[in-house]
Amino acid sequence: MSHPLVIANWKMNIPSGGISGWIQSEMVSKNEEEDFDNKSSHFKFMGIAPPISHLTELKNLFKFGLLGAQDISRFNDGAKTGDISADMVIDKGCTFSILGHSERREFYNETNSHVSEKLRICLEKNIVPVVCIGESLEDYNAGKTLEVLDMQLKEIFASISTKKTVVIAYEPVWAIGSGKTPTVDEVNNIHQHIKDIVQSIAEIEAISVIYGGSVNCENAKSFFQQTNIDGALIGGASLNGKDFLDIYNDFLETF
Ligand code: 13P
Repeated sequence: MSHPLVIANWKMNIPSGGISGWIQSEMVSKNEEEDFDNKSSHFKFMGIAPPISHLTELKNLFKFGLLGAQDISRFNDGAKTGDISADMVIDKGCTFSILGHSERREFYNETNSHVSEKLRICLEKNIVPVVCIGESLEDYNAGKTLEVLDMQLKEIFASISTKKTVVIAYEPVWAIGSGKTPTVDEVNNIHQHIKDIVQSIAEIEAISVIYGGSVNCENAKSFFQQTNIDGALIGGASLNGKDFLDIYNDFLETF
């Protein structure tokens, strides 16, 4: 079964009101068992990827949704200064990890081959991988979007065979933080293409494709209404707890 997800990627930011300010009253349980069960079920498609330093505080204050890492090391342990391993994020309560975000590729020279190594670690360790792919503005303008995505997918997914869930986040680099997005039809068609290509190069039983890049309260619903868009990966708008909750509720309405 595929795994729909609406993920808050806080990047290297803390919400302006702090984590307690980010959490909305609708997100807090009254601690009665029934309310706890209802809330757990309500928030089961919400993922939050704060900076690792703030995972524990978030986990203590907000008991629902899924916690995630923004990245993991491609190594399992040892002398790798600055890295955080899959086991370490699991220990902190993470059940998913974003992999290969375009900012990791741009500022830390991450390649598709690194992303593929991290993907294999996630599958081995039972972390849901959220693999980011996307084209630059130059490639988009040159009509090379599918070509670029195909290359990324082939290099990352070749010879992967798994029964576990894989999430792919289509994030056009030019749409991130820019206020610009492709049309919902473009995204919907690209997601179908991504699913087809991955099925042709790898054996994966459960694939979800979510969209990221300038998703906000105004446009979220129109993305969620498309059949091939299984959720969203949200940066800027996720730093405001109310906006993120509104987007999540829009998602539930169209689900
Ligand atoms: P924005 O929502 O700020 O465009 O960021 C998207 C993103 O990079 C999420 O990973």
